[in-house]
Amino acid sequence: MTGPVPMPNNPQLGACDAALVTRATDAREVLSDHRHEAGFAFDRTGPRTVMNQPGILLNYDGEEHARYRRMLTGAFTVKRVRALAPAISRIVENQLDTLEQAGPGADLIETFAGPVPLLVICELLGAPPQDRDGIQRRSATGTDVANTLDDQLENFAAMAAYMGDLVRRQRERPGDDILGDLIRRHGDVLSDDELIGMGNSILVAGHETVTSMIGMSALALLRDPEQLAIVRDDEAAAPDAVEELLRLLSVAPPLVRQAGTDLELGGQTVKEGERVVLSTLAANHDTALVPDDPDRLDVRRRPVAHLAFGYGAHQCIGQQLARLELRIAVPALLRRLPGLRLDVDLDAVDYRQDALVFGVTKLPVAW
Ligand code: HEM
Repeated sequence: MTGPVPMPNNPQLGACDAALVTRATDAREVLSDHRHEAGFAFDRTGPRTVMNQPGILLNYDGEEHARYRRMLTGAFTVKRVRALAPAISRIVENQLDTLEQAGPGADLIETFAGPVPLLVICELLGAPPQDRDGIQRRSATGTDVANTLDDQLENFAAMAAYMGDLVRRQRERPGDDILGDLIRRHGDVLSDDELIGMGNSILVAGHETVTSMIGMSALALLRDPEQLAIVRDDEAAAPDAVEELLRLLSVAPPLVRQAGTDLELGGQTVKEGERVVLSTLAANHDTALVPDDPDRLDVRRRPVAHLAFGYGAHQCIGQQLARLELRIAVPALLRRLPGLRLDVDLDAVDYRQDALVFGVTKLPVAW
């Protein structure tokens, strides 16, 4: 652990000093210790923003968090997620048609990596596909840390209004989807406000992350034709390859906690109220976790217990869904377009500088 070190300004947290955790064992220790609080920044009386909203799981700790989480876990069981495979395959194949029609020079993010998870989320929340442009725009603005607090508030109001509309429609006629399910089973104890938070957290958490993973996975594989050929040609390779890509790329933003009391971490003292920031990227490249060349992509590597989905009480609830989307989308892309290549120099690839989730802004491809 290093720190405290200054952290860049962020509209959700503000500028602060924080202890920086980079080792896998320290990261696990923090994430499984309830004295490190996740919901410290949630201000129940302050203005609503994309994160400062009831119903968002990361805003709660302890029993309160467990109560919300239990309401959602049923929707994300392995069985429920597996049942989504045909719908995901259909969405992937349709977007591959769109990519082919767009022709060489198309932007992989705009035509494939963005729409696939977005349409999956629309399906999960029972949002009609025609709403997707608005959802995409608002979700991108919500995770752009370059926006001012005023931009965030305005965008959040639009997100809340849209989700509020969806919640009201679903209350009248609950669909066969997560939101409909939540309303059928818990609609009497959950307010519209809480349902808006739960819906929007699924939307934001489950969209940009998968988009970035599809885009960054494609880029990593295009840079390494031998590894690409394994994923394209060996159907059985996908599960381990996806775990390796999740580990290597670790696209999630650094995880932030606050010490609820004075405590020891990595041989140092963290004082009550001090922020602790965990880099899943650094932890997943820790030689204690991956002794053999952790910075190298090896899609045949035996999967390790990586931290790309976090750890402990807040570990990603959508991880099985994310895995399934990646296992379907990445090999399908490589098989449909066996001659896939970058249509720009590697040096010209534009990485997102201001987004919470790590990724590229555009990925022009040809075949
Ligand atoms: C590759 C894609 C994804 C990555 C890398 C990812 C990563 C993460 C990480 C690291 C956390 C823990 C945050 C923390 O402890 O502070 C998390 C939590 C969460 N994720 Fe994901 N996620 C992905 C996809 C998804 C999907 C598809 C969904 C839903 C459809 C989703 C919904 C959530 C929710 C609701 C939480 C909060 C859980 C809680 O606080 O109990 N994520 N995710």
